[in-house]
Amino acid sequence: MTTLVIGANGQIGRQFCERARRAGEPVKAMVRREEQAEWFAERGIDTVVADLEGDFTHAFDGCDEVLFTAGSGPHTGPEKTLLIDLYGAMRAVDIAAEKGVERFIMVSAIRAEDPMAAPEKLRPYMAAKYAADAHLRQATVPHAILKPGRLVDEPASERFAASVEEAGENRISRDNVAVALLHTVQQKALANAEFTLLDGERGVADVMA
Ligand SMILES: NC(=O)c1ccc[n+]([C@@H]2O[C@H](COP(=O)([O-])OP(=O)(O)OC[C@H]3O[C@@H](n4cnc5c(N)ncnc54)[C@H](OP(=O)(O)O)[C@@H]3O)[C@@H](O)[C@H]2O)c1
Repeated sequence: MTTLVIGANGQIGRQFCERARRAGEPVKAMVRREEQAEWFAERGIDTVVADLEGDFTHAFDGCDEVLFTAGSGPHTGPEKTLLIDLYGAMRAVDIAAEKGVERFIMVSAIRAEDPMAAPEKLRPYMAAKYAADAHLRQATVPHAILKPGRLVDEPASERFAASVEEAGENRISRDNVAVALLHTVQQKALANAEFTLLDGERGVADVMA
């Protein structure tokens, strides 16, 4: 099974692709620009050049699974939140469903189910995540939705918690998200499930049981 990674050149995307390669899980990394392919080629990872703001249907060729970890990021305005985090994700779900993809794995965000509970400046982003998740839940393609807390850059502890109450803090390393994504890819039967993920004390199989 080959997993198309949308947002592969991002921080989580690269960490996941490296882990997948080491684990022998085939991936195809979707990157926006030709020069971004070099980092993946050096590691023997296949790439396809495509943009969520253009026609990216061709990226799905030969892929049985999709992992969406793209994002407009904090340095762009609400128009990119709409076009990438919302509409880009929704279009990816629709193409996956049309193509009969076996599973769609979404990197969402903690508490995306309640955008108005977020700090004011994060609400449009959370609303985009909320709507993209809702679109995926009602699509025909089986799904897994991972909802990480605030992302930080630390090596993976490979220890997790499933709630802020359990973790004591709203944070997770991007590398731990990559660990949880690899676990999801390897658990082929895991479908129509959602997981809040934070740094904690439990192993990945336990927290995603
Ligand atoms: N920040 C947080 O605290 C937080 C919390 C929970 C969840 N998340 C989610 O975590 C995910 C990834 O986080 P991250 O830190 O890895 O983000 P990142 O480093 O900013 O990576 C985002 C990736 O999305 C790609 N992208 C942006 N626009 C695109 C487009 N039009 N077409 C194709 N790809 C596009 C970027 O491409 P380029 O490399 O070309 O720029 C980049 O590779 C996102 O879904 C984000 O919403 C974030």
